[in-house]
Amino acid sequence: MTDITNSTHFNKLIAFPTETVYGLGASAYDPDAIQAVFNAKGRPTDNPLIVHVSGIENVADFASIIPEDASKLMAHFWPGPLTVVLKKRSEVLDSITAGLDTVAIRMPNHPLALQLLVERGPMVAPSANKSGKPSPTSSEHVRADFGDTIEIVDGGRCDLGLESTVLDCSQEPFTILRPGHISADDISKVIGKNVVLGSNSSEKPRSPGMKYSHYSPEAAVRWMKIDEKPSEQSALYLLHRKAPIAAENVISYSGDLHKMAAELYDRFRQADLEGYEHVVIEQFDSESSSLISALTNRIEKAIGE
Ligand code: TXA
Ligand code: MG
Repeated sequence: MTDITNSTHFNKLIAFPTETVYGLGASAYDPDAIQAVFNAKGRPTDNPLIVHVSGIENVADFASIIPEDASKLMAHFWPGPLTVVLKKRSEVLDSITAGLDTVAIRMPNHPLALQLLVERGPMVAPSANKSGKPSPTSSEHVRADFGDTIEIVDGGRCDLGLESTVLDCSQEPFTILRPGHISADDISKVIGKNVVLGSNSSEKPRSPGMKYSHYSPEAAVRWMKIDEKPSEQSALYLLHRKAPIAAENVISYSGDLHKMAAELYDRFRQADLEGYEHVVIEQFDSESSSLISALTNRIEKAIGE
């Protein structure tokens, strides 16, 4: 493990809030700062980073080809939780793209993030957690992983709580590499074309990050069967549909999936802080919405499927 307190470039890092999760920011033009991001997170170097920008006009500094449909999507969804993957310009640092010929870019919808990006220019910003930990949705989560070793812009809790939709626009049909709040349907409506859901089962996944087991608490995560009743004391239960149960270890969302998404990573961290051995999550009937797809994706990663 790298001793982060000894990293000479650590003062180049700044964690900041976005509408999805907190990012660990470093200048997209500073190779040492980017290396410090990998060191601080303990992140495998074959997992590329997202460049965060304060406006669409910055995209041409990183992308060599911007298809008209990609421009339409940026105009429609930015600032917002959509990351577009485009053919990169040759000047883009290899450490950002992990040697791929594409670069991921997004404009976050958060005033503090946008202010910082205006002041400092484009920044890479992976989620501001140690690799393998759940993404941070509050400054306390960032502090829990990094202590006082990095600067943190405190924006309270993140609104959405799940990372952005990653859309590969570098080839047709456009492909969703990571599901998020913005769904394939939302995207199709804007460009009038089909969007496909990427499978990460192929040997060389197009979104390298998806092959790693992310988002996991120490507690073992599992699905709760439809007919199961919360009964284990050593488990934190997350229910979204079943009637609420008055017990300290049972959280009922009563159909409010937005709240469940916003709190998921916080509940994972809570389970570890409170020493629960399991997190048990009520199964969804079907993947009928983008939110359910995104939640299912993150929960299955945490289960390790
Ligand atoms: O909501 C978000 O996107 C947050 C906030 C901080 O903006 N950031 C985030 O970054 O989730 P990170 O590094 O934790 O996840 C980036 C994802 C990874 O799955 C990575 O593999 C994928 O984006 N990615 C980055 N560049 C790519 C590329 N050129 N091609 C395919 N996938 C790429
Ligand atoms: Mg991450």
